[in-house]
Amino acid sequence: KRSLSAIDVPLTDYFNRTDLQWIGNITVGTPPQTINVVFDTGSFDLEISSTKCGAACANQIQFDPSKSSTFIDRINETTLNFGTGIGIDPVQGSNWSLQVRNSSDTVAVGGVSVPDVEFYLIVNQTKEWAADPNSGIQGLGAKARGLFAGLEAQGLPSLFSFYLTPESVGDAELTLGGIDHSKFKGDLTYVSTVPTPYPEYPFWQLKNLGFSVNNKSTSAPSKERIFVFDSGTSNVVLPKEDAEAIYAQISPHIKPYTPISGTYALPCSLLPSLTSEIQFFFRAQNGRTLPLVVPTSELSLGPFPGDEGMCQTVINAMEENWILGASLLKHYYSVWDVGGERMGFAENGL
Ligand SMILES: *[C@@H]1O[C@H](CO)[C@@H](O)[C@H](O)[C@H]1NC(C)=O
Ligand SMILES: *[C@@H]1O[C@H](CO)[C@@H](O)[C@H](O)[C@H]1NC(C)=O
Ligand SMILES: *[C@@H]1O[C@H](CO)[C@@H](O)[C@H](O)[C@H]1NC(C)=O
Ligand SMILES: *[C@@H]1O[C@H](CO)[C@@H](O)[C@H](O)[C@H]1NC(C)=O
Ligand SMILES: *[C@@H]1O[C@H](CO)[C@@H](O)[C@H](O)[C@H]1NC(C)=O
Ligand SMILES: *[C@@H]1O[C@H](CO)[C@@H](O)[C@H](O)[C@H]1NC(C)=O
Ligand SMILES: *[C@@H]1O[C@H](CO)[C@@H](O)[C@H](O)[C@H]1NC(C)=O
Repeated sequence: KRSLSAIDVPLTDYFNRTDLQWIGNITVGTPPQTINVVFDTGSFDLEISSTKCGAACANQIQFDPSKSSTFIDRINETTLNFGTGIGIDPVQGSNWSLQVRNSSDTVAVGGVSVPDVEFYLIVNQTKEWAADPNSGIQGLGAKARGLFAGLEAQGLPSLFSFYLTPESVGDAELTLGGIDHSKFKGDLTYVSTVPTPYPEYPFWQLKNLGFSVNNKSTSAPSKERIFVFDSGTSNVVLPKEDAEAIYAQISPHIKPYTPISGTYALPCSLLPSLTSEIQFFFRAQNGRTLPLVVPTSELSLGPFPGDEGMCQTVINAMEENWILGASLLKHYYSVWDVGGERMGFAENGL
């Protein structure tokens, strides 16, 4: 097995009032067609928009299978539902669904290609997707599948790293098969991932030891929580009791925003009074407690479209969900070590 050196993939930030997602290029087919995708640690497969989707995918770059000599139609069709948040990044339930068809073709990233990668061709989508600037989603769950498994088979080390930066900083990057030491200061601190009951489709999960606001613990009951780390989610998602225990410590003016279930808001005029950081604690492999912090600058996501006086706050409530997304990840350099079954974090120096 020859070794493959790390592949740096530049990413651009999709910014719409707040940093939402980070998008980079892959190519599909022979000759290669460039497709821009969100690299999503909260899903597992590759889905790409295609000419078969027509008007429903008018805003997306569409892969044309008839122009690829290596394309294979695998015929079976299915519907995939996505959910990544609510409110300003409104991805909820069955409204976000893709009609897809099993396919395979050569897929490449950073000039390294893998033949016969199985993926889903998007043949129709609900209108909620129309505004999205990306043409596809490349899942990067905690087990190598598809493109990533093919790169591993060619000798790429079994890990990847993210440098997800705010729009104002730019220069965001995904490194497949390595760690870009030029993107962070100090040492990486590693936390072991929690095994899941679904070994073929494992999420990136870490056991949480608790959380606090400005170093003061909250009224949330002390119990074991498993947090999912998801680069495809913009915000923070917690069950109502955890969300409200944190909000109670930040400001009495943060209230549920009734027009959109699960969201919270406060009058934008009160933003200057928000001066709280939220700390989430994890047990590092070195035995120490690792705090991961959502700073004050992330608490407001900006005004609700059509209700400019009310600003959405960073935590959304959803039962049985503990998800940390980009509002936390963009403050760290993160290493997603598939083979080592651990995640590493370092200050990204912002
Ligand atoms: C993706 O490719 C297009 C051209 O095909 C280019 O304009 C764009 O800058 C690339 N995006 C990134 C993030 O590299
Ligand atoms: C920004 O988001 C709004 C919905 O909140 C959407 O209607 C609009 O198309 C988005 N703009 C861009 C440039 O994506
Ligand atoms: C896939 O499609 C073929 C042809 O339509 C069909 O015979 C087969 O049962 C399908 N398999 C699954 C798992 O849906
Ligand atoms: C989602 O779709 C249902 C009908 O299928 C509709 O009643 C509801 O308003 C939609 N929600 C949003 C946010 O568009
Ligand atoms: C393709 O279809 C089969 C059978 O329906 C399914 O088991 C498989 O996971 C599908 N997806 C991909 C990406 O190949
Ligand atoms: C695409 O999906 C929409 C619902 O989102 C549906 O109304 C439409 O008929 C579908 N188009 C095709 C060609 O299946
Ligand atoms: C919380 O405690 C840490 C470690 O003692 C300290 O570095 C940090 O500044 C504190 N944060 C606040 C908001 O008090």
